[in-house]
Amino acid sequence: MKSLPKSITKHIIPALLTHSKAEFLKEIDIVKNAHPKAKLVQLDVADGKFVHNTTWGTPAQVKSLHLTVPFEAHLMVQNPEKAYKYWVHAGASRIVFHCETTKDPIFLAKAIKTAGVKPIMAIDPETKIDLEPLILKEIYGILVMGVHPGFGGQTMVAGTMKRIRTLRKKYPRLRIGVDGGVNIKNAQKLLDAGATELVMGSAYFKL
Ligand code: DX5
Repeated sequence: MKSLPKSITKHIIPALLTHSKAEFLKEIDIVKNAHPKAKLVQLDVADGKFVHNTTWGTPAQVKSLHLTVPFEAHLMVQNPEKAYKYWVHAGASRIVFHCETTKDPIFLAKAIKTAGVKPIMAIDPETKIDLEPLILKEIYGILVMGVHPGFGGQTMVAGTMKRIRTLRKKYPRLRIGVDGGVNIKNAQKLLDAGATELVMGSAYFKL
């Protein structure tokens, strides 16, 4: 992380997309010992149905680790209405759900808020973004996917930067995260385009 200016590192949310407890613990350790320390980490949760990958860690397994770094659960799952409760119980301070996995994002965002945590709505690259006022009222922010979700180490799809610029112009006060294909080469450009949070997986662990 030392190689990056603070003006960038303060926006970075490290993302853990792991397949074993050993890998998970190794990456959490890297995050905990990084300088500067990330204020939040994203735990990718893949169910093998919404995305063609599965990740290590049930909510109970993660809870049993008594993580000292605050985390959000990125639910790449078919049934977020059911899953979010377990991740709140596991200690997640934010829940990222995909708009593509729910018929009623307003209801889901409200339910996550009622559970006492912050709802973030993730939007896949091919999903048209049309944020109606009611959803804007309920969500804490959006997460613009720079890749088709499920795997780390992918290249950011063309048009992501433009998409963020358009969103920032349309929604000047909206918290806009970007996730997938974020690296030290595009980080500043993404911030300049209007992103406020940079979810970084493989590039973070290569720093
Ligand atoms: C995409 C995941 C991302 C991923 C980011 O499937 O939601 O959080 O782990 O990984 P990188 O930064 O390597 O694209």
